[in-house]
Amino acid sequence: MRVLRSAGRMAVVARRWHQQGQRVGVVPTMGALHEGHLSLIRYAAAHNDVVIVTIFVNPLQFGPHEDFARYPRRLPRDLQLARRAGADLVFAPSVQELYPRGFDTFVEIGALAERWEGRARPGHFRGVATIVTILFQLTRPTNAYVGQKDYQQARIIQQLVRDLHLPLRVHIRPTVREADGLAMSSRNIYLTAVQRRQAASIPRALTQARAHIRTGERRASLVLRHMRRLLGAAVPGARIDYLAIVHAKTLVPQSRLRGRVAILVAVRMGRTRLIDNLLVDVP
Ligand code: PAJ
Repeated sequence: MRVLRSAGRMAVVARRWHQQGQRVGVVPTMGALHEGHLSLIRYAAAHNDVVIVTIFVNPLQFGPHEDFARYPRRLPRDLQLARRAGADLVFAPSVQELYPRGFDTFVEIGALAERWEGRARPGHFRGVATIVTILFQLTRPTNAYVGQKDYQQARIIQQLVRDLHLPLRVHIRPTVREADGLAMSSRNIYLTAVQRRQAASIPRALTQARAHIRTGERRASLVLRHMRRLLGAAVPGARIDYLAIVHAKTLVPQSRLRGRVAILVAVRMGRTRLIDNLLVDVP
């Protein structure tokens, strides 16, 4: 497995693979790889000729009071895990390399980025859209793989690929969970033992809501009220940032549930913010 730090070298290798007609799978990450990332890499390896994993903690997508400085950085371990999962190349540039002095171009997403995470984290999706565009430009993927865990981000990446006519397909892959249902996340390590136990109520509230809908409830307000009660009881100190049932494509809230919907939740536990979601096909 090759490791590249230079954007120029990355572009040269990607151009060669492109000319050879290789199917290139790309998995963008911020490192601190866990089973969620590894499942994307394995899937990419099974469906492409070569796989590039990018590892870059992107300062542009962190707010001034967020965890950029303390975000876990574990490159040697990540390289081993990526190689074992089937990566052929890891692109791990420095901040200087991708944002040299004078960098001044940004990709701005419209309505899709305004709600939910976009409202809670101003500028976040601008940072994500900008870095993802740069990474796709350098790696020239045939296919890119993203996790449903960050559902709004995944939809935004699909939207930008479509709107900018980027020649690749974006695949959203299922969320990988811990045994108790908690979605795997590099940020779970911030949780105290008590918070970690309480956090399992997030996926529990989601699956109960899904059951509620599947057994016939069509009023979003009632499903949400039930979820809020459950979360409030299970996590005394938690602050619910948002809890919503939305159209799966547009992420606009629904009051009468029909078609494919996403149940979105963001909860603050102490200094840690957890997000999760489930997709439900309303019968
Ligand atoms: P990061 O949080 O490292 O996640 C990298 C990819 O792994 C994303 O597509 C994310 O949705 C996916 N992922 C994370 N946890 C997952 C889980 N439990 N199951 C399945 N997939 C999971 O998301 C980012 O990095 C960044 O915003 C990035 C897109 C790389 C741009 O900087």
